[in-house]
Amino acid sequence: MKVADIFETMEYGPAPESAAPAEQWLDRHGREFEHFIGGEWQAPVEGEYFETYNPADGKPIARVAQGSEGDVDRAVRAARAAFPAWRDLGGHARARYLYALARLVQRHSRLFAVLESIDNGKPIRESRDIDIPLVARHFYHHAGWAQLMESEFPGYEPVGVAGQIIPWNFPLLMLAWKIAPALAMGNTVVLKPAEFTPLTALLFAEICQEAGLPQGVVNIVTGDGRTGAALAAHPDVDKIAFTGSTEVGRIIRTQTAGTGKKLSLELGGKSPFIVFEDADLDSVVEGVVDAIWFNQGQVCCAGSRILVQEGVAEGLIERLKARMEKLRVGDPLDKAIDIGAIVAPVQLERIERMVRQGVEEGATLWQPSWSCPKDGWFYPPTLFTDVAPAATIAQEEIFGPVVALMTFRTPEEAVALANNTRYGLAASIWTENINLALDIAAKVKAGTVWINCTNQFDAASGFGGYRESGFGREGGREGLWEYIRPKWEATAPVDEGSEHEARPVAGPVSGEGRVAGAGVGGAADSVGPAAAGAGADSVAGTRPAAAGLPAIDRTAKLFIGGKQVRPDSGYSYPVLNPSGVLVGEAALGNRKDIRNAVEAAHKATGWARTTAHNRAQVLYYLAENLSARADEFAERIALVTGADPGAAEREVACSIERLFLYAAWADKWDGAVHRTPFRNVTLAMPEPLGVMGIVCPDERPLLGFVSTVAPAIAMGNAVIAVPSQSAPLLATDFYQVLETSDVPGGVVNIVTGGRDELAEVLAAHDDVDGVWYFGPRKGCAAVERLSAGNMKRTWVSHGRRRDWFDPVQGAGEEFLRHATQVKNIWVPYGE
Ligand code: NAI
Ligand code: MG
Repeated sequence: MKVADIFETMEYGPAPESAAPAEQWLDRHGREFEHFIGGEWQAPVEGEYFETYNPADGKPIARVAQGSEGDVDRAVRAARAAFPAWRDLGGHARARYLYALARLVQRHSRLFAVLESIDNGKPIRESRDIDIPLVARHFYHHAGWAQLMESEFPGYEPVGVAGQIIPWNFPLLMLAWKIAPALAMGNTVVLKPAEFTPLTALLFAEICQEAGLPQGVVNIVTGDGRTGAALAAHPDVDKIAFTGSTEVGRIIRTQTAGTGKKLSLELGGKSPFIVFEDADLDSVVEGVVDAIWFNQGQVCCAGSRILVQEGVAEGLIERLKARMEKLRVGDPLDKAIDIGAIVAPVQLERIERMVRQGVEEGATLWQPSWSCPKDGWFYPPTLFTDVAPAATIAQEEIFGPVVALMTFRTPEEAVALANNTRYGLAASIWTENINLALDIAAKVKAGTVWINCTNQFDAASGFGGYRESGFGREGGREGLWEYIRPKWEATAPVDEGSEHEARPVAGPVSGEGRVAGAGVGGAADSVGPAAAGAGADSVAGTRPAAAGLPAIDRTAKLFIGGKQVRPDSGYSYPVLNPSGVLVGEAALGNRKDIRNAVEAAHKATGWARTTAHNRAQVLYYLAENLSARADEFAERIALVTGADPGAAEREVACSIERLFLYAAWADKWDGAVHRTPFRNVTLAMPEPLGVMGIVCPDERPLLGFVSTVAPAIAMGNAVIAVPSQSAPLLATDFYQVLETSDVPGGVVNIVTGGRDELAEVLAAHDDVDGVWYFGPRKGCAAVERLSAGNMKRTWVSHGRRRDWFDPVQGAGEEFLRHATQVKNIWVPYGE
């Protein structure tokens, strides 16, 4: 036998990692764990426990407490009590604690890795070389942010108590992603690990004690979905951070709507792995291994859809099969295996069910010839070819070692296929052509794009989704916003909504727009649309003109797709000044008008691709044209709001300045180049949300409109604005300014009418990517609740009134941040 033959036939022997240290740690705890609350172990109030299992042999490892509402309440109270002192400790002292935690994770890294592999089933090579080092890296990185908080985030403060709910696929890493930024920014936390994998969180609780972390800063409550639900529902939690299924994310979005809780969601994915014909196919094969067989494919950003250019598809499939044949599935503690065990029988059943469905729907299944060990929960690497783009296995998250391969011909087709999903978590692009790679990176809708690499993570880079993959970022500077809030919010007056609950109804004046300028009673006195009728001209004629007021000779229409259009209803509503005098009429927009406006906005998405310089020019032009008509606008403000002339002039002047401000920002809202390790840099690119609904504040009818719409369009969004309900005429007067300022049709659409009714239509609309709402709490709640349909981004005031003249409350980077989402593009760089 020659050496070459030996290499060919040689079997790997097992290289087992000893489980002994983990077993000893478990024994030391009597294989039973209580909750970690207020710095000590506390028995569950209801006395309930459940078992966690080892997926490699299906045997129970230990019993952990099942958290009840009472346990969650105790933990939240401990976190609340610890909050003021932790916040006031200052960044440097918190940095020292985070640094100590990082050191302790490193010191116990082998124990953490073994325990993680036993509880979760992931290969020890992964827990040892990827999960745990990244955990330490996260705490080091965020020790730095704690140190820098005061200088880098002036005017911001911690949110308070954060409730954090994490999944089982990266138990300790997800803990680190949640706890490190929260603590760095001065929050205290209650964390609920997943029921399948609670153990490393409990070991982490112990190192919190070892680090001398003040009691109550970190609390760990174990349990299942009921415990998570109790945490999300607790009234004294200020923020919820969740990672898990889109289904549960949607429940939490609905449940927390209107409570004022800050929310970040990191949900599922169906990430494309795009291979162009000039890619290095050997690298691609290893890339696929990392994309879908890393962690048994139980990865939210797994490259679960291979999209390959037709010319190289056959060659790639052949190489993939050869590689799959050599993958080794087995004992997670064996350093020579590639794929470990599936976390739980339900997850295994889910994978088996979806694979059966793939076959039933006509795809071709391929699995290696060898079979998996029988005593644990194992599943072999699986490749589907001949997959139809609409097939279940091409659309639904499988969360297992199963990949669906589809082909494309042109780059355009690749983009269309890549974006043919409701998700948008990640994508990877394989080509030797840098022009092509960066062109596609910009077009794929995903929060993370890896070029010629995949599944790279680092604390310095934000991670998070577009679309139904959730919102908010974890990691990097962009992740810190989830754990801080502007200081002024704490003392802002809150509008509960009673005074605004009346919705406008069509007034006695016709929608045909002739005469008014008359005094009538309040809106409540006017007649409903059915009674008013479209042609009640005679009624209008009977109104006496109010003394000293100019007659108003037109009814403001809607502004959709760059044109003034009549409302679908054919009705208008009376606009009264604060003394109840009729000062004009505005169109009564409805659901249909919003739909038309959304359609028009979608046709205007070319705006996002115009240069930032061009967008700046348009905003300057708007300012110039508003300036030319400043007196007219000031008079109108005085007329409709009863403001004194000085205040009205000030509102116009400030609006002009705001347009200048966002013209200035248009080409300066830069991204960043994150200093991620490895052989690359990460480009953090702020991208527009897309089509946005903006429900403007009722007060400051011109300034509120300009201050919200201008930042959104400066960033490249197309907008459907619902202006002040009580004083819409400033926005409708603005049509002419828009028309004369080169704003492309459809970029700004204006629908007047019942604010809350229109807001609800926007929030529920599947083709709207984001909604801002500045108004009473009740409306905020509705917007957040209805946004759960397509998980659109929302930014609502929770009733807090802003001083729109104030340069911090009424303008600035907070607006730009909410008008954009960060895409992180990992690009090979240097060596
Ligand atoms: P899940 O979303 O139910 O579990 C994630 C966490 O949420 C766990 O800690 C769980 O206890 C908790 N939870 C469950 N119901 C809750 C509720 N109503 N309120 C608050 N917290 C709740 O995910 P599950 O059932 O473990 O897995 C099902 C599927 O979800 C997987 O097959 C996979 O497709 C997807 N998934 C995605 C993850 C990701 O990272 N994107 C992670 C885990 C699962
Ligand atoms: Mg387990």
